[in-house]
Amino acid sequence: MIILSIETSCDETAAAVVKDGVEEICSVVASSKEFHEETGGVVPEIAARKQVEFIVPVLDRTVKKFSNSDNSADAVEFAKSNIDSIAVTIGPGLIGSLLVGVEGAKALSLSWGLPLIPVNHLIGHIYSNWLNPEKIPELPAIALIVSGGHTDLVLMKDHGDLTYLGGTLDDAAGEAFDKTARLLGLSKYLGGRELSDLAATCSKNTATEELPRPMLDSDDFDFSFSGLKTAVKRLIEQDKYSKEVVACEFENAVVDVLVGKTLKAVRKYNVKSLLVGGGVSANKNLRTRLSMEVPKIDVEVHIPPLRLCTDNAVYIASAAYFNNSPRDFSEIDANPSLGIMDYL
Ligand code: KG4
Ligand code: ZN
Repeated sequence: MIILSIETSCDETAAAVVKDGVEEICSVVASSKEFHEETGGVVPEIAARKQVEFIVPVLDRTVKKFSNSDNSADAVEFAKSNIDSIAVTIGPGLIGSLLVGVEGAKALSLSWGLPLIPVNHLIGHIYSNWLNPEKIPELPAIALIVSGGHTDLVLMKDHGDLTYLGGTLDDAAGEAFDKTARLLGLSKYLGGRELSDLAATCSKNTATEELPRPMLDSDDFDFSFSGLKTAVKRLIEQDKYSKEVVACEFENAVVDVLVGKTLKAVRKYNVKSLLVGGGVSANKNLRTRLSMEVPKIDVEVHIPPLRLCTDNAVYIASAAYFNNSPRDFSEIDANPSLGIMDYL
């Protein structure tokens, strides 16, 4: 089954073609990130306008790549006769951005006469681990979703059979990275990666355990990162440590908590695999720690390649293939506040 997928939940406009949920045929991503850098945060109005500007060129390029043709009309003819379904992210995300993808997908599905499959973006992140045909995850699994807006731990017994274990009570892990990056004078927008690069330059963490590891030992699977951000602010104000040291200690604190809670869930539910997804899964420290510590308890770790960590449409097609059936247009709506368990 060949699915054409569309992802427009935030500041990326993406489309992809994927075969049988595991084989990426082509992928195109355009981003409006640079337009949000000056303001220090995504401006929903600008993000939505950029989605409108990018959606048709992105789809045009996707069908051209899929058909190996430079001619739009030929590419569309080829796509119409070779694609079986359209999939689209319905949430969570920014309403203006989501609407562009959802309504665009409805128009495409109607004009091409193809079924439309709605997808939860957070479930999509989990499926970034299904795109390596040589290493398909075995279930049951624990999935850790760590993005700019979410931090969730779920038990996945099967496709479409998820149990929510816990999540952040306040800031998401990515949000904590971004806010701390700003406090350290790094990128004003999505500075997580820059913070991590700075932390990597620190040869010795002289501030070990200066920051708290919030909720690491709590008797649940919830997280809280907002207190950590306040503690970093105080540490910076003390002016006792270099920026590299603060970045390193902050990253260690977040990674300690993510790894600690994830290991606890993996042990408790006796699963075969650990699946990691979302933008923060690009973090080198987190990848290394999970790759070293989880196999010790005989569980296979799946972490997506870097290009599939941040938002794209490839995993949206994969999630559509394994989870959702096509729905009638009347049942498909953009939902900015969709939770991980709200729509499977
Ligand atoms: O999944 P994503 O692309 O967008 C959302 O759906 O939220 O995640 C973006 C988040 C941002 O907070 C960004 O700073 C963070 O992922 N991020 C990182 C790294 N790369 C991206 N955080 C820590 N270390 C990284 N290397
Ligand atoms: Zn995302």
